[in-house]
Amino acid sequence: MAYPREFMDELLARSDIVSVVSRYVSLSRRGSGNLGLCPFHNEKTPSFHVSSDKQFFHCFGCGAGGDVISFVMKIENLDFPDAVAKLAEWAGMEIPQSDYGAGERNLRRRAEEACRDAARFFHEKLREDKGADARGYLLGRGLSPATITRFGLGYSPNAWTGLLDALTAKGYTKAELLEAGLIITNEKGRVYDRFRDRAMFPIINVRGTVIGFGGRIMGNGEPKYLNSPESSVFNKRKNLYALNIAKSSRADYMILAEGYMDVIALHQAGFDSAVASLGTALTDEQAHLISKYKSRVVIAYDSDKAGRSATERAIDILKKAGLDVRVIVMTGAKDPDEFIKKFGREKYAKLIENALSSAEYRLAAARQELDLSDDKQRVAYIKSAVGQLARMQSTIEREIYAGRVAQETNVTRDAILQEAERERKRLIREKKRETERKILDPVSSIMPRERSERYTNPHSAIAEEALLTVCMSDTKLCSGVSERISGSMFSSPLLGRAFDIVCARTREGAETDMSVFSENFSESENAHLAAVLARNAEKSADAADDYIDIIQGENIKSEGKLSDEAILAAAEYYRKKKGLNNG
Ligand code: UTP
Ligand code: MN
Repeated sequence: MAYPREFMDELLARSDIVSVVSRYVSLSRRGSGNLGLCPFHNEKTPSFHVSSDKQFFHCFGCGAGGDVISFVMKIENLDFPDAVAKLAEWAGMEIPQSDYGAGERNLRRRAEEACRDAARFFHEKLREDKGADARGYLLGRGLSPATITRFGLGYSPNAWTGLLDALTAKGYTKAELLEAGLIITNEKGRVYDRFRDRAMFPIINVRGTVIGFGGRIMGNGEPKYLNSPESSVFNKRKNLYALNIAKSSRADYMILAEGYMDVIALHQAGFDSAVASLGTALTDEQAHLISKYKSRVVIAYDSDKAGRSATERAIDILKKAGLDVRVIVMTGAKDPDEFIKKFGREKYAKLIENALSSAEYRLAAARQELDLSDDKQRVAYIKSAVGQLARMQSTIEREIYAGRVAQETNVTRDAILQEAERERKRLIREKKRETERKILDPVSSIMPRERSERYTNPHSAIAEEALLTVCMSDTKLCSGVSERISGSMFSSPLLGRAFDIVCARTREGAETDMSVFSENFSESENAHLAAVLARNAEKSADAADDYIDIIQGENIKSEGKLSDEAILAAAEYYRKKKGLNNG
């Protein structure tokens, strides 16, 4: 996704990270940087660091980090071109129309258009004679014609090339339809429709663009739902089903359900703030997306065992995004769709009203399947309840729930509170010890999170991190250093690549900051590089020679693979240095 260099340079020059971040986070100056509360996880003491020198952000708490573009991508849930478009708008700049990234962007735009046309095609097919079974299926599941229209539901005909032929006739190429996930290629290179003889659920993003489909088999068979594949158009982690409608709901909470049919049934019953993830477990990105629209979320997952464990995981993810989390506990039906059909919308409204706080839910979950009249089981319940109480943040909350546990178990509230307090202190001590261990063990705290990027030689990597950071702050130093050492000598390929990029930019006479990495590294690599810059901010340029010695020494020790070029460069350097000293 390349834009002309001059355009990107100007955009970045006009998009100061401190002012962009300040649109979302209130920052205060701290030393050489700026500090605020991290918008990507829930925290009370600021650990979100923004550097105006090197134009990066880094959260010491959750590890999020990157340059100004990755910040906008993350906070607005946009991909690279859309984040660039947003920054360009703020900077009052036009996006250049014809450039060599246009091919890719064009393909994506065409694939989106193909998805929209496919949705129309499927919807029309539903109305034709051959769509009678599908119509019967949807109506039979209790959906009204108005709901079918509202969600743009459709039918994919029982043919190999129905959609393929229709969209080819409209001028779409195979490449565009493949990118849109609408067709598949077999081993012989033949292409045919991905969705055949299924009830079709278009998936629409917040901007109203059709990005994919879920297709439900109408009888028994596997898979029950066939989904569009991941592509430049369809990102399962970053979108939620029906968010395009739910985002304008007047409710002050969002309902998070498990499936497409649950969401549709909820909307039809008047709960128009229901959304669902897209055939995968809930992600941090989706939690963050919800928090952009509402501060409260009600989990309405299935009541079976799988639904309950998904609820446990969702609670943590949603809380981390700072959301007030409630949980619906439902009996007599397996999911919201079935519940509403059986008991009606008023009863469901009551369930929402009576939704448990996450603490209550966890207490209830601990109590489930235990017989409190049995002493042993009662003790087991008290133990796990005490564990839950100890994790509650507010004293008031702890007092209230301790009171409830006391009533349930016939133990005094004070005894329970005392136990909870003891457990809470133990947890605090444990956490402190953990943090200390991390501080005392610098190696584990600097390790990249991605396994494939792990440092193989931490001693060298510490010097590499420092050398990279000081070279970025000082172009003069950097040109000297780059004559003596190259990224290929680094033990960490990631740091080596970053170092080479900084040196190349310096040779061109340009200043460097975090933005030089954004196009060359993945999201997690960028986050790691931001962390490197943040923790090495105070490193001194005077020690550059030492860093180089360590890196070269380790390089020779580990593999003895110093290139001839590097050996010659080092020899030349020392000859000059000796010559200078002698003279
Ligand atoms: P469920 O099996 O609970 O489906 O899967 P559902 O929503 O209740 O569907 P109906 O009522 O039987 O029609 C929940 C969600 O998991 C994803 C879909 O997003 C579905 O809505 N899923 C399930 C798949 O992607 N593929 C599958 O084969 C099954
Ligand atoms: Mn269902």
